[in-house]
Amino acid sequence: MARSKVTVIGAGNVGATTAQRIVESGVADVVLVDIVEGLPQGKALDLAEAAPVVGHDARIVGTNDYADTAGSDIVVVTSGLARQPGMSRDDLLAKNAGIVRSVVRAAVAVSPGAILIIVTNPLDAMCHVAMDASGFPRERVLGMAGVLDSARFRAFIAEELGVSVSDTHAFVLGGHGDTMVPLPRYSTVAGIPITELMSPERIAALCARTANGGAEVVALLKSGSAFYAPAASVFEMVESILLDRKRVLPCAVALAGEFGTHDLFVGVPVVLGAGGMERVMEIALTGDEQVAFDRSAAAVRELVATLASLG
Ligand SMILES: NC(=O)c1ccc[n+]([C@@H]2O[C@H](COP(=O)([O-])OP(=O)(O)OC[C@H]3O[C@@H](n4cnc5c(N)ncnc54)[C@H](O)[C@@H]3O)[C@@H](O)[C@H]2O)c1
Repeated sequence: MARSKVTVIGAGNVGATTAQRIVESGVADVVLVDIVEGLPQGKALDLAEAAPVVGHDARIVGTNDYADTAGSDIVVVTSGLARQPGMSRDDLLAKNAGIVRSVVRAAVAVSPGAILIIVTNPLDAMCHVAMDASGFPRERVLGMAGVLDSARFRAFIAEELGVSVSDTHAFVLGGHGDTMVPLPRYSTVAGIPITELMSPERIAALCARTANGGAEVVALLKSGSAFYAPAASVFEMVESILLDRKRVLPCAVALAGEFGTHDLFVGVPVVLGAGGMERVMEIALTGDEQVAFDRSAAAVRELVATLASLG
């Protein structure tokens, strides 16, 4: 039986690190694509030469030609510009929309059955571009943001309480941006809600740090943005799909009435399996949480409207 095939578009920091995680796990062969000649070929060759040391047999090739991506099971889109210090995700809107539209069209023309995982920012708006450009059903267009945002929240909870990250679970809903909605009562340590373990002030501080998580890394790096945790988060989604694990992970999906929202990509918990997004797990929100969710959804809707006005 042939190994699964994953295409990663964009051989920059997030794309190359994602490609490394996938190929070194052995779950799929990887095709790494970039617009820059030599970049994906060089990184793929370097990763292929690590295979004997790492000890895997999965293949990786780098290319500038979408013909090499044909028949992919999953296409991960990371191509675009990364945020620079002082630059908001929204500044990236017009530029990255053009890039995402063109790469998605080229990729789905040769992989019509693929599942798309969008990473390029501004994330929720880029998911709309990808769904439109691909014509795919919502089950096969997913945005990666919630896994990363909840990973950050988990890391901060574990650090605060001096416990293993393995015993922490965190839930973050909403758009990927300053309006994301961390849910403390669904965030637990070994099943105990953090609301029982920390003061409201400390929880508020960790929620604020989570919402600002991307900017905190950008400010330290001075150039470029986070990529280790983003790549690890994409890998978790890829693995759940390829191994049909049915993990329950927060992903940006096109809502069809869930959480009171229609026709909008917003981060919600979903079951991820061989069919892509197999089910939205709708949970009852408190009044305050619903207000925060609606505010986050409104920010995404505004961005999508801006995108439409840009043509
Ligand atoms: N969703 C998230 O949580 C999340 C997290 C981190 C980064 N991001 C976003 O992911 C994107 C990539 O980040 P990065 O750090 O890897 O950036 P990067 O600059 O290191 O890499 C981007 C790559 O895209 C390539 N590219 C540009 N236009 C292309 C095209 N038309 N076709 C193919 N390749 C093209 C560039 O040549 C470059 O190699 C950014 O938009 C960033 O904001 C999102």
